Amino acid sequence: MTKLLFVCLGNICRSPSAENIMNHLIEKAGLGDRITCDSAGTGGYHIGSPPDSRMAMAARKQNIELLGAARKFQRIDFENFDLILAMDRDNYRNILALDNTGKYQDKVRLMCEFCQKYDLKEVPDPYYGGPEGFDRVIDLLLDACEGLLEYVMSQEDLRVSHHSES
Ligand code: 4NP
Repeated sequence: MTKLLFVCLGNICRSPSAENIMNHLIEKAGLGDRITCDSAGTGGYHIGSPPDSRMAMAARKQNIELLGAARKFQRIDFENFDLILAMDRDNYRNILALDNTGKYQDKVRLMCEFCQKYDLKEVPDPYYGGPEGFDRVIDLLLDACEGLLEYVMSQEDLRVSHHSES
């Protein structure tokens, strides 16, 4: 089982979208027993809130329902997850700032590393912008999540073949 954690600032726009899009792709691929997803924010302003309604509207256009309640990223998440996907560089820096010893830095990656169509380096924060920003986030995350799913499955296959060799 591979455990993925998506992280943004507020955990009400980008990271819950990533989590629910990824769950959608996992379900479509019949991989629900192989990969699990969660999301969190580096900030605590929106703890307990459901996903932003503008974000939910943009996701619904792609037949994806945004479920969840915001929570804050905690140090224990370094232990509990295999991969931690930061939406932008600030998120990345704020996550790594909690890893005093650097033990977990290889688990933390930028979400856009997994994009195959887009060449953006960060998922832009849509919170203070117009509706097109939310559509763009969904499109970008669909691309990144597809790449991420391929990556995770290739890593799982490697692990399985290592096990069968030993
Ligand atoms: P998110 O978006 O990090 O994608 O959830 C934001 C949500 C709230 C705020 C900023 C970004 N805020 O400043 O309250």
